[in-house]
Amino acid sequence: MGPIKLHDKTFDTYLSEEEIQEKIREIAESINKDYQDKRPLFIAILNGSFMFAADLFKHLTIDAEICFIKLASYKGMKSSGNIITAIGLDQDVFGRDVVIVEDIVDTGKTLNEFLPQLHHQQPRSLAIAALLHKPEATQFPLTINYTGFKIPNKFVVGYGLDYDGLGRNLKEIYQLA
Ligand code: XMP
Ligand code: MG
Repeated sequence: MGPIKLHDKTFDTYLSEEEIQEKIREIAESINKDYQDKRPLFIAILNGSFMFAADLFKHLTIDAEICFIKLASYKGMKSSGNIITAIGLDQDVFGRDVVIVEDIVDTGKTLNEFLPQLHHQQPRSLAIAALLHKPEATQFPLTINYTGFKIPNKFVVGYGLDYDGLGRNLKEIYQLA
């Protein structure tokens, strides 16, 4: 696969379909082991994680509950910055083993603000599975329990990730050229 063009930008192939799928099988294997005797609640964060979530969940052999949420950030009226709220979290998190499913952890701001809200509901445990992580960009302390690929601090698209609405449908992951 050669470079692709989305809007005004050119992107080079970065991770092939095979590399992505192989990594997802590995993550699923770890989760299957770690949650063997539990019944975790998976919370996948839309929109970006829809492909990762679907492929990951197909490899789970444990009892799993699955839900999807959207995180919306609002400009606060004070200078405290953005407050992130979950849309669609109708499951009871209390006492559950929760696994957050994310497409990418970039600055870490989103999860850094959302996780305390979940902790407040007292899950039994809370883990993060992220397909991609940009360690150089991450500004907030986060423990990512299951990481697919550590990638450089460059914009990526494909496999759920978009550039201004385009690219989510691609099977591969592309990096800004
Ligand atoms: P943070 O910075 O809060 O990231 O960890 C929050 C969300 O931003 C999106 N994101 C990206 N989307 N290419 C994309 O298409 C990227 O390189 C990228 N980096 C961050 C993503 O939805 C993430 O959950
Ligand atoms: Mg996301």
